[in-house]
Order: sequence, then structure tokens, then C-alpha cells
Amino acid sequence: MSGVGSARDLNVPPRTQVAIIGAGPAGLVLAHLLHLQGIDSVILESHSREHCEQRIRAGFLEEGSASLLESIGLGDRLRREGLVHRAFVFRLLGEDHRIALGDLTDGRGMTIYGQEELVKDLIAARRATGRPLAFQTPVQACSQIDGHEPVVVYRHNDEVWELRCDVIAGCDGFHGPSRAAVKPTAYTRQCPIAWLGVLAAVPPTIEEIVYAWHNRGFALHSVRSPQLSRLHLQCAPDEDLNQWSDERIWDELDARLSRRDGVTLDRGPILQKAVIPLRSFVAEPMGRGRLLLAGDAAHIVPPTGAKGLNLAIADVHALSQTLGRWYARRDDALLEDYSRRRLRHVWQVERFSAWMTSVLHRFPQHDDFDRKLQVAELRHVCSSPSAARALAESYVGLDSSRDLPAEHQLVAVD
Ligand code: APR
Ligand code: PHB
Repeated sequence: MSGVGSARDLNVPPRTQVAIIGAGPAGLVLAHLLHLQGIDSVILESHSREHCEQRIRAGFLEEGSASLLESIGLGDRLRREGLVHRAFVFRLLGEDHRIALGDLTDGRGMTIYGQEELVKDLIAARRATGRPLAFQTPVQACSQIDGHEPVVVYRHNDEVWELRCDVIAGCDGFHGPSRAAVKPTAYTRQCPIAWLGVLAAVPPTIEEIVYAWHNRGFALHSVRSPQLSRLHLQCAPDEDLNQWSDERIWDELDARLSRRDGVTLDRGPILQKAVIPLRSFVAEPMGRGRLLLAGDAAHIVPPTGAKGLNLAIADVHALSQTLGRWYARRDDALLEDYSRRRLRHVWQVERFSAWMTSVLHRFPQHDDFDRKLQVAELRHVCSSPSAARALAESYVGLDSSRDLPAEHQLVAVD
């Protein structure tokens, strides 16, 4: 059966102020920021609550992201359980070079808190507001986005429903349907490499985050909690996971992360493994008419810079401010400004993520000269205080373009 109206068993009304597509970090944080401004919203999510709460993704929060979450009452568990790191290590041919983030910035660092834990906190906070959050409601289409009352068409239990609203927030990730309705120009760079990401039930052997440059390819040692290690190995985009036994993974990690003193990693059961593509993508503009994009729906950064979650949070912070002003003034030019305001920062983060990716990985097209240049570049940032400071500022998220008012942003020349 199909119908026009609302899926009442889900507590979804036929109309709302802001229709949010996607219950990832972008959609959930946006919903909370709007709630605090008294703006109503409905979140439609294609997957189940369990799926959203168990999806292992990144988990690196810049100080600005963590402070924002704290300031809106979502930081209790994050501050209690998050692991703060004020340094990281470049392991170059087995030799450690420490980048002291705290000393190189105004004491800043990164908080490690699994994205799945953050999503659990955000879903609980949404539930506590009593405002609608509907799972297993895949959105099929966004229509009438150039008019005054856009419509979101979604499915639930084999029925088709419509949600009318003032504005649609497309927070539906890279594969969601909202970007297609905007018809943006897509700027894409596909990398010929990927990561084999592993979650292991073993206390991290090394206290700090280690980015290893190695002739066998890049490796990353990271943490999720005092009991959980997060590890990555550069691999091929079509890598067959069946070829990677736990033993082979640990052997390869040891080979790439080995130190000159021969210290090896403590091993433990591997709980999850996955191939993570490395790609860069930006949609310009980040919206059209009454449909605005945020998070992975609008851009993707390769994970090397650990920036995806922070970009998503910065987007929805700006979007919530835009919508607050729009409800006060009803001036549609404000909605157009949102994209201009965000893109300058987005491109800075793309620049940093592409740089981290290009200096640390072994690329198929690289010859020995390119590899020597990578080592020289890494030695330069580790030994020059001004280069190290510039790197640290980007790493902790002190990008100069972040909070520039719209009138100071570069406007695209057609
Ligand atoms: N209808 C409803 N929901 C949808 C649809 C659809 N048709 N398509 C996708 N979604 C949902 C997905 O199921 C997902 O829960 O949108 C959500 C998008 O969430 P994320 O992919 O986590 O994207 P975002 O919220 O922008 O967060 C970006 O996630 O991928 C990581 O590294 C990235 O940390 C960054 C963060
Ligand atoms: C991670 O812990 O998953 C992680 C850490 C640092 C990065 C990227 C990912 O740069």
C-alpha cells in the first residue's frame, strides 16, 4: 500500500520545520543544535538504531568539536571516557619524530572517542527531547526544493510517505540521495590505494598515535580505549580480506611499525577488519534552494588527516546558525551564504588531508626519487619549528578560514 501523509506509528508528522535526512553525526548534532534554538525537526534514517550505533568509523575530535559538544550538553561521557592526545609520532624508517601538538599550538590536542560511542550519546539525547527520530525510513527523493515547501519522500514498511518542511538538511552521507537533487559540480580525486582497518582487543602497545612511513607501505597505530587498539595498513582498493589472517595482519603491522630497538606490538584478537577507500570529494555548491548539504553528503576527505567527523560537526554548526537567522529574517540569501561560508574551510581541510596522504603512502606510480622526496618532506616538518607549527595547527583544527564571516570568503568565479 502507498499513501501520502505520515507514518504515524513512527511519530512522524506530515510537516516539520527542518527535515533531516540521516542519523549520522551530522544529522544528529544538527537536530540537537536546532532543538536548542526551538526549531522543530524530523530525522529520517534508512538503517536501524543498532546498525547506526555499531558502525565503526573514525573517532578523532578536534578541541573545537569537543568544546561545541560540551557546550550543548553532549560532552559528559566524551570528557569522561575520551582519550586526549597532545602529540603524535612520525615513524620514519623506524626512527621516531614527535610532533608536540600542545607545545606547538595553544595547548591543544585531539580527543579520541569512537564515532559509534558519540552516535549512541546523540541518539539518547535526541530521544530525551521527544522530537521525532525515525529509523528504517529510507528517503527516496527530495522534491520542490526551489519552492517554499520542499517535500521528502520516504518509505516505511513497504509504504511510501511524504514529509513537507521549510528546509531539507541532506546529512545522508556520501551514498545518500540528497546530493543528486542539488546537482552540484563534483570535484573528485580517487586514490589508487586503500587502508585495511582493524579493531583489536588489546591494550595499545604504544601510548601515542604513530604514523609510519615504510618501504612496504604506510601503517598507523591508534587507540580507541585503554583496552582497544585501532590499526591501519595501506593496501590495495580491491584487497581480498580473506587473504588476511590475524597472524598475517600482526606480522605486517610489526614489519611496518617496527622501531630500530626491535620493540614489537602486543597481539590480541581482531574484532573487525575492513577495507577503507581513500578518496577526496567536494560538492560545489553545498546546497540549492531549500536543500542544504552537510557532512559526508557534501565532501569526503581521505582518513589520513582524521578530519571527516570534525568537518561534519563544523558544517552543522554553521548550518544551525544559518537556520536560526533564516527563521528570524526569512531571507533566502542566508541559505545561499551557507555554502560560501563552508567551502573555504572545507578546501583547507582537503588540502591538509591530501598532504598527509601524499607524504605518507607508497603510491604505485612513485619511483625512488618520489620516495626520497617524501622522506625529505617529513624530515623538514619534523625539524623546522615553523613547518612543525603549521602542521600542528592544521592537525588540531586551527584553520584560519573556519570562522570567517561570509563577506570575507572567496566567491567562486563561474
Ligand atoms: N535515507 C535516510 N538515511 C540515509 C539515506 C537515505 N536514503 N542514505 C543514507 N542515510 C543515512 C546513513 O544510513 C547514515 O546513517 O545517513 C547517515 C549518514 O551518516 P554518515 O555516513 O556517518 O555521515 P555524516 O553524518 O556526514 O558523518 C560524517 O562519518 O563517514 C564518517 O568519516 C566520516 O566521520 C565522518 C562522518
Ligand atoms: C583512527 O584512530 O581511526 C585514526 C587515527 C588517526 C588518523 C586516522 C584515523 O589520522
